[in-house]
Formats: sequence, C-alpha cells, structure tokens
Amino acid sequence: MSRHKLEKLISSDAIAVQVSTLANRIAKDMPRDLMVVILLRGSFVFAADLLRALHAVGMTPQVDFLTLSSYGMGTESKGEVQIVRDLVESMSGRDVLIVDDILESGRTLAFAKDLITQRGARMIRIGVLLEKPGKRKTDVAADYVGFTIPDKFVVGYGLDYANYYRELPYIGAVTI
Ligand code: IMP
Ligand code: MG
Repeated sequence: MSRHKLEKLISSDAIAVQVSTLANRIAKDMPRDLMVVILLRGSFVFAADLLRALHAVGMTPQVDFLTLSSYGMGTESKGEVQIVRDLVESMSGRDVLIVDDILESGRTLAFAKDLITQRGARMIRIGVLLEKPGKRKTDVAADYVGFTIPDKFVVGYGLDYANYYRELPYIGAVTI
C-alpha cells in the first residue's frame, strides 16, 4: 500500500546503468587511495550500489559516514545544516569522494565540503545521484551527477518523505 500517489521518474534499470557509468569516471579521476564519505541518511542505497560498482572497476575504497540534517519532516529545507553524527576516520591528506542523494540548495554539500576541507583533505570531489537545477543557494557543484530531474519532490532508492519510501527500487515523484 502506498501512502501517496507516486509517479515513476527513473527506473531501477536506468539507475544501475548510470551508477556504473559514474563508477568508471570516478575510477579514472581518483586513482589514488580513495576515501568515500557517505552522507546519511538519504544516500545509503545509492552509496551501497556505487561502492559495489567501484569494486567492479578495480577500486578498493575506504568508507566513512557523516549524518547531517537540513530537512525536517516536510519537503522544505530549513536552511540550516547540523551534524547529527560526525566522521570517525581522519580526512587528513585524503582524496575524498562525498556521496549524497540529491543536490538541491547545495547547503548540505557545501557544509560537508567545508567540514572535510577543514579536516585536511587533499582533494574533494562530489558525487550525487540526482540534481535539481535552478534551486542552488550556494556555489557548490557536483563533479558526478547521475540524473538531472525536474523540480519535484522525489522519493525512493534511499530518498524519503517523512522517512517513508526509502525502500523503493526506483525514483518516484510524490504527486499528492
Ligand atoms: P540541499 O537543499 O541541497 O541541502 O538538499 C539537502 C537534502 O535535502 C538532500 O540531501 C536530501 O536528503 C533532501 N532533499 C532535497 N530534495 C529532496 C527531494 O526531492 N526528496 C527527498 N529529499 C530531498
Ligand atoms: Mg539527505
């Protein structure tokens, strides 16, 4: 049973193709000992598939997690980012790939990038599954983008509405 009407935007097959394309590009651009920082909670499904795709192209990354919050229970960003759970690993001198679900205002990723810069990373790249254009409130840009989507609230493949729908294998737009 679904709580809202969902319009399917991106199929799981299309996601899988794009994830391995991104992994190929990342492997070429970031050949040194890679640290993948997974922004929780929304990117956990994307990150799990991306890590396995990185393995498939011969990479052996280390992984850490950073939990940030910017959205409350609704669909509008509160505009202020907080650390809910900090990194565990040292970022000093590392080549870091930050992985997030979606780049919208850019506040979450700008915050994460600043934090990891402060922690001494040598190089930082950003990979996102989705990007909504025209919504940016900061000048942060993603180096790897799976899909550019229309300005709709989307769920599935890790993305939530009030913490529901993360389990969906596809990306859908909430229509009601
Ligand atoms: P930001 O506005 O770029 O900081 O986006 C922050 C976070 O808001 C993302 O990491 C997502 O977790 C969440 N978010 C933004 N747009 C959507 C959406 O359409 N569906 C679900 N979550 C979203
Ligand atoms: Mg998120």
